[in-house]
Amino acid sequence: MNLPNLKEAKIRTKEQIKIIHDDYKVPTKMKTIGKNKKYFIKTYGCQMNVHDSENIKAILEDMNFTETFEMENADIILLNTCAIRENAHNKLFGFLGRVKHLKENNPDIICVICGCMSQEESVVNDIKSKYKWVDIVFGTHNLHKFPNILEEFLSKKSQEIEVFSIEGNVYENIPVKRDSKYKAWVNIMYGCDKFCTYCIVPYTRGKQRSRRPLDIISEVESLVNDGYKEVTLLGQNVNAYGKDLKIEYTMTNLLEDVAKTGIDRIRFVTSHPWDFNDEMIDVIAKYPNIMPYIHLPLQSGSNKILKLMGRRYTKEQYIELFNKIKEKVKGVAITTDIIVAFPGETEQDFNDTLDVVNTCKFDSAFTFIFSPRVGTPAAKMKNNLTEKEKNNRLYKLNELINKYALEKNKEYLGKTVKVLLEDFSEKDGKLMGYTDTMKLINVKADKKYLGKIVDVKITDVKTWSMDGKIDKRV
Ligand code: SAH
Ligand code: SF4
Ligand code: F3S
Repeated sequence: MNLPNLKEAKIRTKEQIKIIHDDYKVPTKMKTIGKNKKYFIKTYGCQMNVHDSENIKAILEDMNFTETFEMENADIILLNTCAIRENAHNKLFGFLGRVKHLKENNPDIICVICGCMSQEESVVNDIKSKYKWVDIVFGTHNLHKFPNILEEFLSKKSQEIEVFSIEGNVYENIPVKRDSKYKAWVNIMYGCDKFCTYCIVPYTRGKQRSRRPLDIISEVESLVNDGYKEVTLLGQNVNAYGKDLKIEYTMTNLLEDVAKTGIDRIRFVTSHPWDFNDEMIDVIAKYPNIMPYIHLPLQSGSNKILKLMGRRYTKEQYIELFNKIKEKVKGVAITTDIIVAFPGETEQDFNDTLDVVNTCKFDSAFTFIFSPRVGTPAAKMKNNLTEKEKNNRLYKLNELINKYALEKNKEYLGKTVKVLLEDFSEKDGKLMGYTDTMKLINVKADKKYLGKIVDVKITDVKTWSMDGKIDKRV
């Protein structure tokens, strides 16, 4: 048993990160363990978790399990968790109630918890004492060791907790079962060293560590060979890519090399404003296959709050960067993240945030009420706002965000844009996909267009999506 430890998770040493190519192996005995058995996996959280689940699925299939989308039919149920806000916690514990019920009828079902909540000391202590029926807990640093952890559990048949609070290494050659045939997630770095005062990620994901450029580029090249149209380069803070490598190679170099693979579309998340430099903007502007779409979290428009958050930029610097990107990258869409009701946020501070929204007129935004995370500095800061005040601020902010989202979408009306049609739409007889500015479009089109980038004329716009029809004139 290995339990998470918050103090250890905070440590950052100068020790060189190891790139390990051969640590994933399925023990012979485990290769057929999943024969005639089904797995169900539920994923919470960010794209990083979604991609981790793609790895976990492939690992399960290496053990001969097959996927089911009905939890009731599963022999093994995995919950890949997120720890970013309290409601992510509540969701998991709600879901566990349903799993417990299934296990009461069939005690052989194996219940596994992994992901960021597994890295939290308080959560794992709770699981140990109050959820003794949960069979396996593993963390974000050792997902590739799942076959060994499962083997250990099956031999002992007692709760198996294997979580490491370490800085972490980079593991290559972990298999992946991608959810899409057209769009792929590609990790370029893991962890985060920014330690924004509200955020749990540096504790759950470890030290910032970049994959080697060649490993990333050869992954993208093989995706091109397999017919993929789009890659999203993933990291908590992608602009800092390469800073931990012992070679002179930056995010700008990486973007350029990925663009040269010839893949149709490239995007990247998430960009911290602090590490965004002019060279990077120039490369984004230069290559047509780098999508004119940037997610640039603001978090707050008040300099006082930004300082308390440890974000290391002012609202003036943010706006300057925003304007520079808008000026140089033609037709760019910029989206953001904003937290309201951070401890100490006055009405004036909140109005400062609204001011920045009025200045930048974002294409869209994810907005959140501050949620204290155990162990982070902001959790100890004093917060005087009532729940009603917090909700009012979120509501007011969302109204403004929605107003600009609709305004931006209206600019597309009547225009013809390129859309990568990736799936069936929830609406009957339609396909859905995104523009290179990440606008969601529903198109009445034959399924032969799936997986293709097509010209679509926009016929109707709403706040969150648009409708269009294939434009055959182009
Ligand atoms: N690495 C990204 C953010 C990852 S978390 C960045 O630095 O921009 C995604 C978003 O969740 C953050 O941008 C932030 O807006 C929000 N978030 C993180 N911690 C939070 C907390 N404790 N309470 C509320 N929102 C939070
Ligand atoms: Fe969290 Fe800040 Fe790191 Fe983003 S940059 S993951 S908000 S600590
Ligand atoms: Fe959540 Fe972990 Fe992502 S906390 S947002 S799943 S890095």
